[in-house]
Amino acid sequence: MSSPSPILSLGRSTFGDPANKDNFPTLEEAHALLAEWVPNERLRLHMKQVGAVMKAWALEREGADERTALKWELAGLLHDADWEKHPDAHCRVIIEHLESLHTDPDIIHCIASHGPKYFGVEPETTMDKMIYVFDELSGFIHAAALIRPTRYEGMDVKSIMKKLKTPSFAAQVSRDDINDALSRIDTPLEEIIQFIIDHQKDVQ
Ligand SMILES: [Fe+2]
Repeated sequence: MSSPSPILSLGRSTFGDPANKDNFPTLEEAHALLAEWVPNERLRLHMKQVGAVMKAWALEREGADERTALKWELAGLLHDADWEKHPDAHCRVIIEHLESLHTDPDIIHCIASHGPKYFGVEPETTMDKMIYVFDELSGFIHAAALIRPTRYEGMDVKSIMKKLKTPSFAAQVSRDDINDALSRIDTPLEEIIQFIIDHQKDVQ
């Protein structure tokens, strides 16, 4: 989710301190933060799904090592951590919290740029661009799974493509944001959809 109301521009483009490179929470600490900050189970699942897809992309498509993949996963896991309790200050609260923990600036910038139109921060790294690509699509695909009796089982890319062209389905998901995110990478939409289905279907 990247479109809170009202729109909040973060008003800056640098985040964290380069001296904190490679310093980040453990997975257990990130899950504990989610448990505390995000009582809404569905929102928590969304973040876990984006985290799983980010990690898988880093490992399978970017050739990342485990430590780097963990960074991708943490950015996905925490990107909406403040959405439920601070909708008017999303994602400022989580960014400032991570800065206070001396978190790796790559993770903070990734979170800050997951909705460039709303936060006023452009995605720069591949990690930034991929969270922007995955965020809305992951939520959209999950919405599609929820209305299928068999959920993810047997879900195909074509049906998702069709739903994307149906404005009334999951109308709150911005097709403009999805297209804007895709325009910044070289992978076609169909491939991204299949990747998301494959890697978020078993996340609980
Ligand atoms: Fe999100």
